Amino acid sequence: MSSFAPFTKVALRVARQAGALLQAASRERIDVSYKGVRNLVTNVDRASEALIVRTLLRHFPKHRIVAEEGHGADAGASPHSRYCWLIDPLDGTTNYTHRFPFYCVSIALAVDDVVQLGVVYDPIRRECFSAEAGAGAQLNGQPITVSSRTRLQNSLLVTGFSYDIQTNPDNNLNHFAKLTLTAQAVRRTGSAALDLCYVAAGRSDGFWEMHLKPWDTAAGSLIVTEAGGRVSRFSGKPCAIDAPDILATNGRIHPAMVRILTAQKVPRR
Ligand code: IPD
Ligand code: CA
Ligand code: CA
Repeated sequence: MSSFAPFTKVALRVARQAGALLQAASRERIDVSYKGVRNLVTNVDRASEALIVRTLLRHFPKHRIVAEEGHGADAGASPHSRYCWLIDPLDGTTNYTHRFPFYCVSIALAVDDVVQLGVVYDPIRRECFSAEAGAGAQLNGQPITVSSRTRLQNSLLVTGFSYDIQTNPDNNLNHFAKLTLTAQAVRRTGSAALDLCYVAAGRSDGFWEMHLKPWDTAAGSLIVTEAGGRVSRFSGKPCAIDAPDILATNGRIHPAMVRILTAQKVPRR
C-alpha cells in the first residue's frame, strides 16, 4: 500500500459522493449566476464544493484547500500546510447548465506543489479515473494506458477555450486553426479534467489549452503521466502546477504538437 493510499481512499469516496450530488441536482431547478460575461457558476457548483471541502477538512484538518468557488478560504484551512488539495467541484459547468452530459468532479492532492494523487469522477458514465504518483493510472480500478498512435494526421485531439475568448487576443483560435488543418479531427468537449483523462485512457491522442487553473489540470495531468503519457508547456518545457498553457499527449505525437504550437504560421494542407 502506498503512503498516499489513505488520502486516495477519502478522495475517491468524496468524488463519488459529489458526483451523486451533481446527478441528483441536475433533476431539479439549477440556479445560475455569472462570474463573468460567459463564466457561469451555479448553486450546484457551490454545494458540491462545500461537500468536498467539509469532508476533506474533517479527515485532514491541517491541510490547505484551493477550491474553485472559494470555500476553502473561509473553511478555516491551514494556509501554510505542505499538503494542498486542489478541487474543481464541477468541471464543465456550461455543459451542466445546458444538460449536455459531459462534466465531472476533479480532486488532487499536491505536496510542496507536486501533485501526488488525482481523482476525476464522471457521474454520468460512472467512470472514476485515478492515479497516485509512481503507481500507474486506473479507470474504475483497472489500469489504463495512453494510445500508441504516432502520426498527428491520424490523431484525435481535444482542446478548450477560456471564458475571455472574446476579449483576450491570446485566445487559442490560432492553434485551433492550425491543429484542425493538421490532425485527423479536433473536439471541444467542455471539461478539461475529463479531456486529460481521455488522453490517459487512449480515447484521444492529445489535448492542449491555455489559461486553465490548477484545479482544472492537477488531477488529470497526473493521470496522463501515470498512464504513460507526457504533459508539458506548449514549448515542451516542464509544466508547473499553475502553468498558463498545457499540452498533454500519448508522448509519441508530442514533438509534432510542440512544433505546431510554437510555430508562427497557419499551415496549408
Ligand atoms: C472549464 C472547462 C472547460 C475549459 C475552461 C474551464 P469550468 O471549467 O474545463 O473545458 O475549456 O477553460 O474553465 O468553468 O466548467 O469548471
Ligand atoms: Ca474547471
Ligand atoms: Ca468548475
